[in-house]
Amino acid sequence: MIPNPDPAILRASLNAYLEELRDSGLDGFPCDVSQDSSQPPTRAATCGDIQLHQGVTKPSADSADHHETLENIRRNLGDCQRCKLGRTRKNLVFGVGNPNARLVFVGEGPGADEDEKGEPFVGDAGRMLNRIITAMGITREEVYICNVVKCRPPGNRNPEADEIESCSPFLMRQLKSIKPEVIVALGKFAAQTLLETREPISKLRGRFRNFHGIPLMPTYHPSYLLRSGGNSDSFWDVWEDMTQVLQLLKLPVPDKSRKK
Ligand code: URA
Repeated sequence: MIPNPDPAILRASLNAYLEELRDSGLDGFPCDVSQDSSQPPTRAATCGDIQLHQGVTKPSADSADHHETLENIRRNLGDCQRCKLGRTRKNLVFGVGNPNARLVFVGEGPGADEDEKGEPFVGDAGRMLNRIITAMGITREEVYICNVVKCRPPGNRNPEADEIESCSPFLMRQLKSIKPEVIVALGKFAAQTLLETREPISKLRGRFRNFHGIPLMPTYHPSYLLRSGGNSDSFWDVWEDMTQVLQLLKLPVPDKSRKK
């Protein structure tokens, strides 16, 4: 024990310790700070996030808004081996883009190109997604792009339920960190995971859904568009979905018309 430690040093080392705990995956712990032990502890006291930026003082209204950074979530993932995809991947594909994006695209999982480069949507499906983003009059750098699973399922098979279960909490944390105004779920896996439904994408698309208070537009996956041809009905369905997204964001809708 250091006798009469300097409060500033004490505060700094406590913050460093909490930072370490958070990096190791802990995002809260029970602590009854109520003076009156006959009163039940408040929610903030029992399960609030660790308030690093506020020190360990009582959470203020401002600190209730505190959310963790994408860097911290990436650090928590580390060299992830939480599911069997960790054994076969080359690179974990976390996500790319603007941490303050108003719009987030969520795909299914990395393919071979993404696994190689460690970046989502950089292969053929990525080129199709870029086409959609450019047609919307925005840029890839302005939005954020990530996936339901962060490691490539071998042979591009679909992600399995246990893999989605291990990985999706990190996606939820990314979305909570970014707090976008709109989410676009690309394809069945993203839409069904985020909306916790088994409804097919053909039924889900075309209408905003509610993801924890954030409007979420399910639409077809870019790979599906590639398979169905560049000017197909599904391509124009996606364009109609993106038109609604632009309108919600109060962005101009570039004039494109479906070829009859
Ligand atoms: N398909 C996806 O769903 N995500 C990618 O990152 C690439 C292809």
